[in-house]
Amino acid sequence: MKGLYSALVASAISGALAAPSPVEQGPITARANAAACATPVTLSGNPFASRSIYANKEYSKEVIAAAASMTDSALAAKASKVAEVGTYLWIDTRARISVIEDNLKDIPCDKIAAMVIYDLPGRDCAAKASNGELAAGDVATYKSQYIDPIVAIFKKYPNTAISLVIEPDSLPNLVTNADKQACKDSAAGYKEGVAYALKQLNLPNIAMYIDAGHGGWLGWNDNLKPGAKMLASVYKDAGSPKQVRGFATNVAGWNAWDLSPGEFSKATDAQWNKCQNEKLYVKAFSPELKSAGMPSQAIVDTGRNAVTGLRKEWGDWCNVNGAGFGVRPTSSTGDSLTDAFVWVKPGGESDGTSDTGATRYDSYCGKDDAFKPAPEAGTWNQAYFEMLLKNAKPPF
Ligand code: GLC
Repeated sequence: MKGLYSALVASAISGALAAPSPVEQGPITARANAAACATPVTLSGNPFASRSIYANKEYSKEVIAAAASMTDSALAAKASKVAEVGTYLWIDTRARISVIEDNLKDIPCDKIAAMVIYDLPGRDCAAKASNGELAAGDVATYKSQYIDPIVAIFKKYPNTAISLVIEPDSLPNLVTNADKQACKDSAAGYKEGVAYALKQLNLPNIAMYIDAGHGGWLGWNDNLKPGAKMLASVYKDAGSPKQVRGFATNVAGWNAWDLSPGEFSKATDAQWNKCQNEKLYVKAFSPELKSAGMPSQAIVDTGRNAVTGLRKEWGDWCNVNGAGFGVRPTSSTGDSLTDAFVWVKPGGESDGTSDTGATRYDSYCGKDDAFKPAPEAGTWNQAYFEMLLKNAKPPF
C-alpha cells in the first residue's frame, strides 16, 4: 500500500524452538490450551482493553521461515519472537479470503483477530505499487465476490472478537488526490464500496476503524475538515453502523507517536501542519470527526516507526531505508483517544517493487531513501525484515 501526499493543500531456530509441526505452527502462544469464548461476543468500548491481538498464522509462518534461514543464531532467536507479535492479516485479494477461516477457528477468548479489508476497485489510485485486482468502478464484484463471502465467514464465528482496518488510503486519496484521473475514475466506487463494507460487516463481534492516512497527509490545516467530512459522510451513507469505532492512522507508515519537536517541524511548510506527530494528529482529527458525526477513537500503526530522520520528504512512503520495528501492540497508549498501538503493516512485507520495468513500479520505490532491491508489494523481503529487527525499539 502507499499514500501520496499533496503538499500544502493538500530456530535455525531449529533446536531452539519447541518445533511445532508445520500444520500447527503459527501463533506460538499456547492456543491449544486456551478456550474460545463460550458465548457470543459483543464489542463496545475499547476492544483491545481486555484482549491482545492474535498472532495470525500467515505472518508467523513468514517470520518462522525468515528465522530459519538466518545463519546468525542470536538474530534468529530474536526473529522467532517477532512471530509471537499480533499483526493484521491483509485480505488483499478474493483468493486471500481462503485463509480467513483458518485464522479464526481457534482464537482464544482473550485474543482479538485483526484483519485489513483491502480490495477496492481501482485500488491505490494515486500510486502504482499496490494497484489491485478489480478495475475502477467494478463495485459489483467487490460486493458479491469480496465483501459478501467475508461476511459469511465472520457470521460463523460470533464467539470470536475481530478488529478490522477498512481500506487503507482510499478515502484520504479522495480528499487530496481527487484531481488525478485514476482517483476520479475510482471515487464513486470507493465511496459505495466502503459504505457497503461498513454496513455488511457491522456484526456485534466486530470493531471497525476506517483508514485516515496520517499526520503528514490529512493533518495539513486545510485537509483536516475535508478529511473528517469524507470519512463521516461515507459512515453515514452506510447507515451509521454501530460497530464503527473510529479511525486508523499511520497504516504502513513511518511517523513517530509523540516525538517532539516532530520529524518535519523544521520544514519550510511546517507552519501549515499542526500534526507533526501521530499523537497530535489524533488530537486534531478526532474532534473534527466527532463534530462531523462519526465515532472518533483511534488506533495507530507503530509497526515500523522506531527510527526517525530517515525520510527526505514526509510523503516518502516506500520501504524506507533504515527503519526499525516500533512499540509492540498494546492498549496502554496513555491517550484516551487512542484505543491501541497496533502493527497493521506486517513488517518484512514489501511496500512496492524497486524493479523499474515492473508494471506496478512506482517512482517512490526508487527514491534515494527507499531500500533496494525490493520485491512486489506484499512480498517478503528478507533483508528488509532483518534491518527492521536489528533497528527495533524496544529491541527484541
Ligand atoms: C501492500 C500490498 C498488499 C499487502 C500489504 C501488506 O499494500 O499491496 O498486497 O497485503 O501491503 O503487506
